[in-house]
Amino acid sequence: MTAIGIHDLELATGHHVLELTDLAESQGVVPGKYILGLGQSQFSVLSEDEDIVTMGAAAALPLLERNGIEGIRTLLFATESGVDQSKAAGVAALRLLGLPSGVRTVEMKQACYGGTAALQAAIGIVARAPEEKVLVIASDNARYLLDSPGEPTQGAGAVAMLVSADPALLEIEPINGISTTDVDDFWRPNDSTTAVVDGHLSVGAYLDALSDAWKDLEGRGGPAIGDIDRILYHQPYTKMAKKAQQRLREVTGEEISTALNPGDEVDGRDTGLETGSRYNRRLGNSYTASLYAGLASLLDHDDELAGKRIGLFSYGSGCVSEFFTGIVQEGYREVRAASHVEDVLDARVPVTVAEYRDLHNAPHGTSTDQVTPAVTTGPFRFAGVADQARRYEVR
Ligand code: HMG
Repeated sequence: MTAIGIHDLELATGHHVLELTDLAESQGVVPGKYILGLGQSQFSVLSEDEDIVTMGAAAALPLLERNGIEGIRTLLFATESGVDQSKAAGVAALRLLGLPSGVRTVEMKQACYGGTAALQAAIGIVARAPEEKVLVIASDNARYLLDSPGEPTQGAGAVAMLVSADPALLEIEPINGISTTDVDDFWRPNDSTTAVVDGHLSVGAYLDALSDAWKDLEGRGGPAIGDIDRILYHQPYTKMAKKAQQRLREVTGEEISTALNPGDEVDGRDTGLETGSRYNRRLGNSYTASLYAGLASLLDHDDELAGKRIGLFSYGSGCVSEFFTGIVQEGYREVRAASHVEDVLDARVPVTVAEYRDLHNAPHGTSTDQVTPAVTTGPFRFAGVADQARRYEVR
């Protein structure tokens, strides 16, 4: 069988960054609650002239520069912070990226699971036509109400992945474990720009979905836990990955380490909980992109991955989840040498809490005509709304 999986991957994020110690202090909250309790140090904040389209295209651009566009026949854009009810965000991204018209483009949605849905659909397309490549973009702007418990878990980010036969980074294995349950833990109604969430219910729903997806994987003949070298989880905040690791430890009986922070006591086999959480700790929740930001972090901070099996748990509230596995390819370090994620994170411009609150309150997703102030310096910008349509510019 042809090996199919992720050939290359890149990450982009918002222009600004907020320190969670600043947010905590402004709220009279002990910073340790956010830094250790949630495992988050910062979150990205979008300026008014960027959105999921500009972030997604910015993530995809270096991939196309490195790999060319030959063979790309499909663009799958996963998001749960969509900017239109009808038109796929990927269509605007396709124009910004200069992709030809012979690329079918659709948007995929199921909360944070959408990125994995797009990846699995891409694998199906390549299985049918191995000479084709699929550009998968997962891009989100995670927004909760100001002063709500979800606020410190906001964030923004996009991951673009090129899916192909004979991938250079990660071959995705065919057996997966799935769990879908109808639960109202988190959703975003059509008339709201922020998510509605029952936070503690969502944590329980996530953990139960993990148990169920793992059991489904086991029942379908998936790899034993002892044959999985590293494990990545969807990270709404990095402490959630630690909770997930604790649950998987209980379900499997395998002593996998739950040490999340540098210096934490290592209480079992190291499966990369800390190395896979370094980017997410600084990005905040990037919804559909979060699991794949974790993958980028692991690949960039672990030199011993060649030939190793990674388990990946994807969770999207509502809820749909999947546990699947992949084998890291021999040349992954050469591919990742081109990655600039640390630079992208370091380049963000800090905002004060007052500036962040103003940006949060600025119009989002409105169809009222407007011209956005030019703030960003990236390759693409959201110029505003004219005749009720969103306008994007290439710099
Ligand atoms: P909260 O209720 O304000 O926080 O919000 P808490 O009181 O539960 O405290 C959080 C943790 O900090 C606790 O640790 C405290 O002990 C600890 P835990 O019991 O969880 O291990 N703590 C401290 N630690 C150190 N020093 C201190 C200190 N003080 C307290 N001084 C909540 C937490 C998660 C509910 C909130 O952030 C929230 O609503 N978040 C949004 C929802 C969310 O992220 N859910 C996660 C699962 S659902 C999911 O992943 C899907 C999602 O990505 C969306 C999608 O799929 O589209 C969200």
